[in-house]
Parts: sequence; structure tokens; C-alpha cells
Amino acid sequence: MSYKDKIIKEKLPKHIAIIMDGNGRWARKHGQDRIFGHHQGVDAVRDIAEASAELGIKYLTLYAFSTENWNRPKFEVDALMNLFVETITKELDTLNKNNISLNAIGDLDSLPEENYLRLKETIDATASNDRMTLTLAMSYSSHWEIINAVRKILSAKNDQQLKAEDITEDLFSKYLTTAYMPDPELLIRTSGEMRISNFLLWQIAYAELYFTPKLWPEFTPEDLYHAIVNYQSRERRFGLTSEQIKS
Ligand code: IPE
Ligand code: IPE
Ligand code: MG
Repeated sequence: MSYKDKIIKEKLPKHIAIIMDGNGRWARKHGQDRIFGHHQGVDAVRDIAEASAELGIKYLTLYAFSTENWNRPKFEVDALMNLFVETITKELDTLNKNNISLNAIGDLDSLPEENYLRLKETIDATASNDRMTLTLAMSYSSHWEIINAVRKILSAKNDQQLKAEDITEDLFSKYLTTAYMPDPELLIRTSGEMRISNFLLWQIAYAELYFTPKLWPEFTPEDLYHAIVNYQSRERRFGLTSEQIKS
């Protein structure tokens, strides 16, 4: 029996975020170079995006490249940038067929121009798709995002005469790159690492965390269903007592 049959439709998370980790180790395990692992990872992205949309997930956010990843060897960074350009263009039909709109968060100005233009093209070409929003975090880190938000608030403060007491959690969230989405209820990380690596630090304040030893290219829709079933079995208390939740 598939875990898919155990998913409670009424309790689906609206937003799932995934740290797609382990491409390099997967490649090494198969006697290949790291770049081969990244190529293989694209197939997993397609499968997981299609499975999520089909389930009824409204937002899927994938960590594709962190601001720290710029410090990898140049040939790997270049290969990843080329792979992104290639994939974003090639997958346009898959996105439209599945009625998925693409979006991107991160320091997009730091991407190579070709990359930025292709990304923008695909974002525009899928903008009216409304089954699910697939967000790629590219050149993203939470520290970058939070500093960026503070800078924008300070500029707005001068323009709009914002006062210190106007700065609320709600207002701050509006200045984050994720302002168009609810916070993720479920965060998945593959590859066995149990850390967040600078991803959505503000937004995951109350997310359920799910770690799996599976490497990203091995992560299948069945693994996603398992993560969701596991998420649905948890009691989300938000600081309350179990008794309060049940009454
Ligand atoms: C995740 O896989 C993809 C990116 C960070 C771009 P890695 O490339 O980090 O693979 P490992 O962690 O070295 O196995
Ligand atoms: C996190 O993976 C970033 C992405 C998945 C894009 P890393 O492989 O860069 O994370 P660390 O270095 O192991 O923390
Ligand atoms: Mg890694």
C-alpha cells in the first residue's frame, strides 16, 4: 500500500519547503562526478513538483542554491548556473501542463544575466497558472533576506514616516521575499544532515521538521507521501498544552 492512501486530504500542509541536499554524495556513490548528481537531481525536482501539485499542495519551495554555494569551486558553480538556465527553459511545458506557476526568491541580481532573463521569462510565462506555486530559492539565504528586509523597512520608514511601534511581525513578514505565501508547515531536508543551512529561518518558526537519510536524487513521491503522513501524525501545539489543543 502506498503512503499516498494514508494522507488525510483535509489536513494537507498548504506549503512544503525542501532543502534538496546530497546530489554530490549520490554521484560519488555511483562513481560519477558531482555535476552528474546535480543533473540527476533535476529529475527528482520534476517528480516531486508534479506529485505535490497533484496532491493539492498550494506552495512548494525548493532550496536550489544558497548564497554560501557561490564559494564552491568555479566549475561547479558554472555547471549549476548552466543547468538552471537549461532546466528552467526546458521545463516550461511541464509547468504549464501541470498548471504550476514558477517563482524565485533570493538575491536574484547576483545571478548571471542569462540566468536571470530565462528565469524571468518562465516566471512571466507561467504567471496565470494557479494549481500550485513552485518557488526556487536561488542565491538565497535567510541572513541576506532579513538584512534586505531591514534595509527596505528603513527606506520605507523615511518615505512613509513609519514609527518604531509600526514595526510588527506582520509588517516585517511583508518585507520578506516570501510575503506572497503562508509560512511552510512542513520542512523536509534530504541527505541525513540535520541543519537548516540558512534557509527560511523566520518562516519556519513553527514548521514541523522532517529529516531523511535519502539523498536528493533518490527522493521519490513515495518519500514525500511518507513525510506528509508523518507530519499529519504530529500534534502542533504552538505553545499551548495538549489538553487545550484537544478541547
Ligand atoms: C545539494 O547537493 C545541491 C546544492 C547545494 C546546489 P550538494 O551539492 O550539496 O550535495 P552534497 O551535500 O555535497 O552531497
Ligand atoms: C544547502 O545545502 C543548500 C541547498 C540545498 C541549496 P548545502 O550542501 O550547501 O548545505 P551545507 O553546506 O551542508 O550546510
Ligand atoms: Mg550539500
